[in-house]
Amino acid sequence: MNGYQHNSGTLDCQNLAAHVPEDIIPLANKSDTSGGMELIIDPKTFERFNAVLTGVIVPRPIAFVSTVSPDGEVNLAPYSFFNAVSYDTVVFSSARNVDNKSKDTLRNIEETGEFVVNIVVDPIAEAMNATSAEFPEGVDEFEIARLSHAPSQIVKPPRVAESPVNIECKLDQVVQIGSGDHEHGLVIGKIVLLHIRDDVIDGHRIDQAKLMATGRMAGNMYCRTNDRYEMVRPVFDPEKTQVG
Ligand SMILES: Cc1cc2nc3c(=O)[nH]c(=O)nc-3n(C[C@H](O)[C@H](O)[C@H](O)COP(=O)(O)O)c2cc1C
Repeated sequence: MNGYQHNSGTLDCQNLAAHVPEDIIPLANKSDTSGGMELIIDPKTFERFNAVLTGVIVPRPIAFVSTVSPDGEVNLAPYSFFNAVSYDTVVFSSARNVDNKSKDTLRNIEETGEFVVNIVVDPIAEAMNATSAEFPEGVDEFEIARLSHAPSQIVKPPRVAESPVNIECKLDQVVQIGSGDHEHGLVIGKIVLLHIRDDVIDGHRIDQAKLMATGRMAGNMYCRTNDRYEMVRPVFDPEKTQVG
């Protein structure tokens, strides 16, 4: 058994350890509730809460965000605290660096109000990873990852030509979240134009098998989206659900 001794007993964490680095598990508290054993983790006091959270909210889509500085320097970096939150709105969040300096992406967006979200798909997953090192300002990560610029139509930042989906966005607002080491800028962007490459479209649908979107799991783990199933959403029928 893959267990740890706590003051309250031994915890079987075999399944959790598959997603979460093992060394964070012993720091958590366990509790024996009516439903059985569980970890009870308070985000305010558990130092490595980020590692736990990103191990349980999975998979996450990955925004490959291209921006341009006011001086015209192009930047590209991945962000997996990312999603669409309405039919024309995307959000992603960027941590502040240790010295509380914004990452290049966030700074460029705050200064120019424009960005492109390029969707990460399996054929460019390694290139995406290559851009994620903390390069100094002014480095064009397109060159590092050998990716090519495709011109955008409305915003200045180029699109990633190798990504089949590019979302041109204008900044709506940046919401500050957290403080100190946990400070993030939540970028809310309005979609101004969506590009979808023809070869991932089948008739009137996106062909998910051809899209091959990449998912982010915990830490350095990723997943493919090639195992899908259909579930039809039920329609409420008062005839069938009335009692008596
Ligand atoms: C798959 C992946 C997802 C990431 N998601 C985030 C994220 O959501 N927020 C964040 O602050 N950093 C995230 N990072 C780290 C940034 O990509 C990294 O700090 C990068 O150097 C920032 O570049 P920039 O300064 O050019 O914006 C992620 C890294 C990887 C590999």
